[in-house]
Amino acid sequence: MNLPEEFLSKMREILNDEFDQFIKIYDFDSYKGFRVNTAKVSVKEFIDKMGIEFERIPWCKDGFFYTEELRLSKHPYYFAGLVYIQEPSAMFPVEALDVKEGEKVLDLCAAPGGKSIQIAARLGQNGLLISNDVKPSRIKALVKNVENLGLTNVVILNNKPKEIAESYGAYFDKILVDAPCSGEGMFRKDPTAAKKWTSNHPEKYVNLQRSIMTEVDELLKVGGEIVYSTCTFEVEENEGIIDWFLKNIKTMRLLR
Ligand SMILES: C[S@@+](CC[C@H](N)C(=O)[O-])C[C@H]1O[C@@H](n2cnc3c(N)ncnc32)[C@H](O)[C@@H]1O
Repeated sequence: MNLPEEFLSKMREILNDEFDQFIKIYDFDSYKGFRVNTAKVSVKEFIDKMGIEFERIPWCKDGFFYTEELRLSKHPYYFAGLVYIQEPSAMFPVEALDVKEGEKVLDLCAAPGGKSIQIAARLGQNGLLISNDVKPSRIKALVKNVENLGLTNVVILNNKPKEIAESYGAYFDKILVDAPCSGEGMFRKDPTAAKKWTSNHPEKYVNLQRSIMTEVDELLKVGGEIVYSTCTFEVEENEGIIDWFLKNIKTMRLLR
């Protein structure tokens, strides 16, 4: 796979001895994963219906690996909304958010909705998820997914974070910020992302990420929790944002 030279030298600097191990992953196809939509069917019921022993994804209790031959995206159970196809690594942020039944949760950058679906299933009928994305063009996919998976505890918004803060104030127990980013973690899944990458991406995204995080403080209840995630390796967009956030919002502290 052709990866930008500047990206490679940056990764060499970040990973040192682990770089050779890292670069080998690009010789392999990415792992395929799905989650059982427990808002519609239990994990046991689904596995029994399929009659297949799927390998579990260790960090997600309703996530499993599958192989291409299964053609899951053509399966009737996929169209019935019993499963959602999702990269195994993308299942981790919601696990870290540790959503409890009955909580009020905000998924601020939600489209197309993989993580919203995961949150909604965990919240149960007494919980509420506000699922937002700023881009109207991406809202369609979010609505389609929420409807197809039969989720009735979700409100979809198409607002700027500032507007949500003005209307809701400190309403949420948990907030997920799955931020727009330079997408370096997507190169293996989508080689065109590698072609589009430029070394000045981080700066562009850091400003956007900071502006989103600025509003988050006003939306969180006292004692609430935020998970910030990206799909990039760029330090400025990950640790750099957390560092900046903690320095600027003195009421916040790092939990894990
Ligand atoms: C990484 S994607 C989210 C993926 C989604 N969480 C999922 O699991 O399917 C980032 C999203 O942030 C949205 N976005 C960009 N700028 C935003 C902003 N200022 N406020 C809220 N969302 C924004 C983009 O439209 C994009 O859909």
